[in-house]
Amino acid sequence: MSLPDLSPRPGDLDPVETMPREQLAALQLERLQWTLHHVHANVPHYRAAFDEAGVHPDDCRELADLARFPLTTKQDLRRHYPFGMLAVPQERVARIHASSGTTGKPTVVGYTREDLDVWSEVVARSIRAAGGRAGMKVHVAYGYGLFTGGLGAHYGAERLGCTVIPMSGGQTERQVSLIVDFEPEVIMVTPTYMLALIDEMERQGVDPRRTSLKVGIFGAEPWTDDMRREIEERVDMHAVDIYGLSEVMGPGVAMECVETKDGLHVWEDHFYPEVIDPVTGEVLPDGAEGELVFTTLTKQALPVVRYRTRDLTRLLPGTARTMRRMEKVTGRSDDMMIIRGVNVFPTQLEEIVLAVPDLSPHFQCVLTRPDRLDELTVRVEARHRLDDARARELAEQVRARAKDLVGTTVGVEVLPPESIERSMGKMRRIVDRRPDLR
Ligand code: DLL
Repeated sequence: MSLPDLSPRPGDLDPVETMPREQLAALQLERLQWTLHHVHANVPHYRAAFDEAGVHPDDCRELADLARFPLTTKQDLRRHYPFGMLAVPQERVARIHASSGTTGKPTVVGYTREDLDVWSEVVARSIRAAGGRAGMKVHVAYGYGLFTGGLGAHYGAERLGCTVIPMSGGQTERQVSLIVDFEPEVIMVTPTYMLALIDEMERQGVDPRRTSLKVGIFGAEPWTDDMRREIEERVDMHAVDIYGLSEVMGPGVAMECVETKDGLHVWEDHFYPEVIDPVTGEVLPDGAEGELVFTTLTKQALPVVRYRTRDLTRLLPGTARTMRRMEKVTGRSDDMMIIRGVNVFPTQLEEIVLAVPDLSPHFQCVLTRPDRLDELTVRVEARHRLDDARARELAEQVRARAKDLVGTTVGVEVLPPESIERSMGKMRRIVDRRPDLR
């Protein structure tokens, strides 16, 4: 594999990306104090929550003081549906997005013009970190609409000076013909939908390694380094990770740099990260694994203070930038399956499946409860048609590896190619068929 060198050249980066830590901390503190005063003055929920915790914005004299302020959850946002968490009058809100939770009301978020400006800036920075440059063509296959993926990517790519192809998700055949005809260097899409596009290229007789694509910017769902290797090899392009969530902004909260591919640099001048123990809520030191929590530092319309993401990761020192990195998200606390007392994440199964050459990365975890105990069956597609004996042998291999590496017994079904529904956005990895949860 001969991937092009897309490292930044001198002068490419925004000076804030390599700002000395002490200077960054001073900027963060000033912005944090502004945010705390802003929400206290303008959002009744925060005023009440601060009062209840016995804290006032003036109590924040250094960054560590943030730990004294209360955490915010998705339920808090839902309780104030649709506009109760806005910190500016509605007429100053230039755009609304919403994330469709699996249950209940969506979470609604709003942006002022200045917020949209910051968002474009951090996405432009992210595309540049991935190796994108002004003048390149960017194919955006994240969904457009209330989901933040499409429009977030779109305005960031425009801000960087790229030519945007606003394809959105779906119409897989057409995606492939447009990639062939328009020759984009960059694609922004969920990693599982990228796999569907690669399969479609092969079906159409297009060699993915000979397309114009040089960089894939993949996010919105967890994916592993094994998946990176698979995509980089099959397409001969760089595959980098972009992270974000609508409550904090959308895509572009953190981004992996193409020159190091060692986790995602958090754009700490706008988003202040903490990692907490998900059970006690206590702040953990950098390097320890726990739940990621964000406080926005510059957002006007929908600032969040100590928002619990439910994403599990660790904070690590910066490498390609001075800002801290978060390790690739290994799972969400609510995606964790507990099988015979052992915690299992879909990403662990992804690694096991991808280590077996005849199995494809298309798989699902089906949860059932036949006899009061939860059972997990991994349904995975073979890469090509297999006879029954070979399918059973591969199923046995996955079962044995899961037992060894994860420490629990799972059922495995090896299915013929094309039997699992393809995602056009975020893949539904877990299919929950337990009776009392339906
Ligand atoms: O998924 C924003 C986004 C769009 C990010 C496009 C990247 C690319 P939500 O729909 O609010 O926003 O979902 C946020 O998705 O808390 C994570 O659980 C998950 N997630 C997002 N990016 C990653 C990633 C968008 N790179 C939720 N790795 C987050 C793992 C991710 N999980």
